[in-house]
Amino acid sequence: MLRRTLLAASGSDRARRLITSAPYARGVVSRYVAGDDAAEAVAVTRRLLASGLLVSLDYLGEDTADPEQAAAVAGEYIRLIAALAAAGLSAGGGAEVSVKPTAVGVGLAEHGEKTAAENISRICVAAREAGTTVTLDMEEHTWVEPTLRLVAQLRDEFPDLGCVIQSGLRRSVSDCAGLARPGSRVRLCKGAYRAPESVAYLTRRDVDRSYVRCLRVLLDGPGYPMVATHDPRLISIAAAQVGLAGRPADSFEYQMLYGVRAIEQQRLAAAGAAVRVYLPYGRDWYSYLLRRLAERPANLMFFLRSLATRS
Ligand code: FDA
Repeated sequence: MLRRTLLAASGSDRARRLITSAPYARGVVSRYVAGDDAAEAVAVTRRLLASGLLVSLDYLGEDTADPEQAAAVAGEYIRLIAALAAAGLSAGGGAEVSVKPTAVGVGLAEHGEKTAAENISRICVAAREAGTTVTLDMEEHTWVEPTLRLVAQLRDEFPDLGCVIQSGLRRSVSDCAGLARPGSRVRLCKGAYRAPESVAYLTRRDVDRSYVRCLRVLLDGPGYPMVATHDPRLISIAAAQVGLAGRPADSFEYQMLYGVRAIEQQRLAAAGAAVRVYLPYGRDWYSYLLRRLAERPANLMFFLRSLATRS
């Protein structure tokens, strides 16, 4: 119930105004977000890479409303990639980028997919020159088809373009089977958005079971699975499945969010696994923060307490 309320609030302008203007919200935000601009994001990236982790940077923002803004988002990614390359952080995919299709225009009323494809191509060209990769995030369930079409179309030219599958959706095992191809980079997560029962599993148990089924398809296949979860049980199952499938350590990776289970990130990396941290930056942090609060009610209490005690 709380989760659904928070996810609903993530789309509410009134709640957005209230929360983003709260004086001490930023203190909480900094737990999950690298900073306001690319320079701060590059500095945090350098620190994470030095500690043995990999990074995927996300320039915060979604639901872009016009083509100019969509092109500007692509421009920001291209400048970010140049800054990462100049700092020696992108080579070999150490730091890559994650892009939301709605941020680069897929939701535009006219020519949305074409605009998004052009913008993503520009980002992919910059990433390739910098020796790194791009992964397309997955958003609301209504964007799954357009996003997978973009992936299919763009992988002809950029075979290392990654995508995300949400185990919370009923279709996902079948999507994983379609994506389990040589070299195919697929990030598997539970899913952070609301969706109706007709398309999604509503209980945690069903979402987790679906995660295990998807995991098996991806780990048994010839692609490059990216196991994105903080759930200790699913991480153990993934490790066991990796052993059964006889996968070498460089044929998959774990992924976690910046600010969540940092000790576990280090533990896995110290044990020889590739671990990538998803690192958002930018001023448009509201929707991202609400999804993180929805994942863990204790975070919400922490957030409310910090507002109440300091304001
Ligand atoms: P679950 O929510 O069950 O959490 C397991 C445990 O992890 C919790 O008990 C808690 O200890 C810890 N934990 C989880 N979230 C926490 C938080 N916010 N703060 C503190 N502790 C927390 N989703 C999506 O729809 N599209 C996408 O493209 C992506 N991309 C993505 C990339 C990466 C690298 C990650 C890790 C996740 C995503 N997600 C995502 C989000 C994902 O769908 C999911 O909402 C979160 O990862 C939380 O689910 P868990 O698998 O961690 O399990």
